[in-house]
Amino acid sequence: MTLTSPEKKHFPVMLDEVIQTCLHNNKKKLIIDCTFGGGGYSKELLKFSNIKVIALDRDASAVNRAKNLEKNFPNKFTFYNEKFSNLDKVIRKENEPDIIIFDLGLSSFQLQDYSRGFSFKASEKIDMQMGLSKISAEDVINKLDEKSLKLIIKILGEEQEAGKIAKNIIKARAVKKIDSVTELVRIIEASKKRNYNKKINVCTKTFQALRIFVNKETTELIEGIIKATKLIKSGGKIIVISFHSIEDRIVKFYFTNYSQNKSKPSRYLPEEDTEQTVLFQSYRNHLLKPSVEEIQENPPSRSARLRVAVRNENNFIIPEELKFKFKRYLELENTNV
Ligand SMILES: C[S@@+](CC[C@H](N)C(=O)[O-])C[C@H]1O[C@@H](n2cnc3c(N)ncnc32)[C@H](O)[C@@H]1O
Repeated sequence: MTLTSPEKKHFPVMLDEVIQTCLHNNKKKLIIDCTFGGGGYSKELLKFSNIKVIALDRDASAVNRAKNLEKNFPNKFTFYNEKFSNLDKVIRKENEPDIIIFDLGLSSFQLQDYSRGFSFKASEKIDMQMGLSKISAEDVINKLDEKSLKLIIKILGEEQEAGKIAKNIIKARAVKKIDSVTELVRIIEASKKRNYNKKINVCTKTFQALRIFVNKETTELIEGIIKATKLIKSGGKIIVISFHSIEDRIVKFYFTNYSQNKSKPSRYLPEEDTEQTVLFQSYRNHLLKPSVEEIQENPPSRSARLRVAVRNENNFIIPEELKFKFKRYLELENTNV
């Protein structure tokens, strides 16, 4: 049976918390919404007369949604179809952004459009490109060698049975190209002996791994938050909402280790240099989660984690330790297909 995409409904995650963080005073502000999606945050922020918004999204399908806002707020809103790893191509230091927001992952528009192959409920092509991506998930599962496939599923999906799934993908594609989500779902279901976490579907982790790999999401995140740190004004805030443990680990490490109150100096730098590596004011692992009411209304919000860091006055330095610490992900995402 072919399922058609459900009616698309979009809930901006932790909207109140994001707006409160942006509105700490009434001064004029430039806010960069790096992940426009359905425009949930941008629309709400533009209601305030002291706020201008520049938004980005890598997905071409966001362009039309953004056009309406550009029409309604010609002097307050601009949109770019661009990846946030290229933030410095569209925002200049002289723009002095006050707040830069990253709401990571997929929008409900992407997830619920079954033709894009992000959902394991779909039967269409296994595409999974968010936009401005160079490869599709179909390329990955039909072209990569078994060892690389296993590593991707194991490391980016944190899937314990990655070896079995990779082996069965190789076996299946030797008979016939795997070209639909339905076929991939069948292979994963047959490979998984047990579902260790009953709360999530057996396919979730493999799908997460493929999506992260296709869109180089950890590379994007690391490059994006580094560029945001370089561009934002002193006293400005970087807000990140993450949805899985790899993303949250990266953000937590960065905000903690490059803040004034970090507990220990960097292991990779001589001690006298560590003072200059501080990029943020005190960061006390300030973590917000969605309210019980929000989770009830919009269950996918349950895994959201919101972190905020405030830029200090130090000159920018490239945070090499961040790249070093997560080198494994960066190298893996660079695997040639
Ligand atoms: C969770 S949605 C954002 C929803 C939005 N905050 C709202 O309220 O409507 C994430 C969006 O970020 C976009 N995105 C993900 N990674 C990106 C990247 N590296 N550069 C630019 N946009 C990205 C996706 O295409 C998606 O539209």
